[in-house]
Amino acid sequence: MLHISPSILAADFSQLGAQVAEAEAAGAQRIHVDVMDGHFVPNLSMGPVVVEGLRPQTRLPIEVHLMVEQPEKFTQAFIAKGADLVIVHHEVLADARPMLDEIKKLGKKAGLALNPNTPVEALIPYLPLIDLALCMTVFPGFGGQAFLPESPARIARVRQLIDEHNPRCDLEVDGGIDARTASLAVKAGANVLVVGTGIFRHPAGITAAMRELQALA
Ligand code: DX5
Ligand code: ZN
Repeated sequence: MLHISPSILAADFSQLGAQVAEAEAAGAQRIHVDVMDGHFVPNLSMGPVVVEGLRPQTRLPIEVHLMVEQPEKFTQAFIAKGADLVIVHHEVLADARPMLDEIKKLGKKAGLALNPNTPVEALIPYLPLIDLALCMTVFPGFGGQAFLPESPARIARVRQLIDEHNPRCDLEVDGGIDARTASLAVKAGANVLVVGTGIFRHPAGITAAMRELQALA
């Protein structure tokens, strides 16, 4: 089952509730919130207050992608405001296990993200513990970047590892996803697509963008 996770980073923040409602009505299965700290990535974005504002506006699960150097400082706050799944980056954690355990202890789902230059084998020890592996298809930090051409091969390798170690784990891709690159990612084995620009800035609008992406399923 293919899930589409609109990334609100590309939304019009003066219309956030209405835009998320439109994506939900058009069949989005989750909402993706990109959190950037200006250290792990060269950009700043949203804090827990955004999840708090969004929570009563949608019935969809909210996934929080923590592009931050110290995820342990923020996880609890995002969960308290309504996050259902918290994704942390492998690159900032010498051992991701305590962080993943903490998220699970708080009763939420845990995800682990890999940057495009992190060997996919880094996932192996954590696969039995996670609900979602996020294979970045751009270097994180900004919306609207181009899908990296080496991504399908990496996605296919992550798919093999998931099938071997934890077939229930979702394989999510994030960065430069539109109808064309989505089809490459899905063919390579992805089952959750994060889409920012391709939905919220689609010239034909949010609903039409969702229809195009759903045609892949
Ligand atoms: C990248 C973020 C992405 C981003 C995707 O730094 O993690 O979620 O918003 O945006 P698009 O779809 O615009 O590449
Ligand atoms: Zn993201």
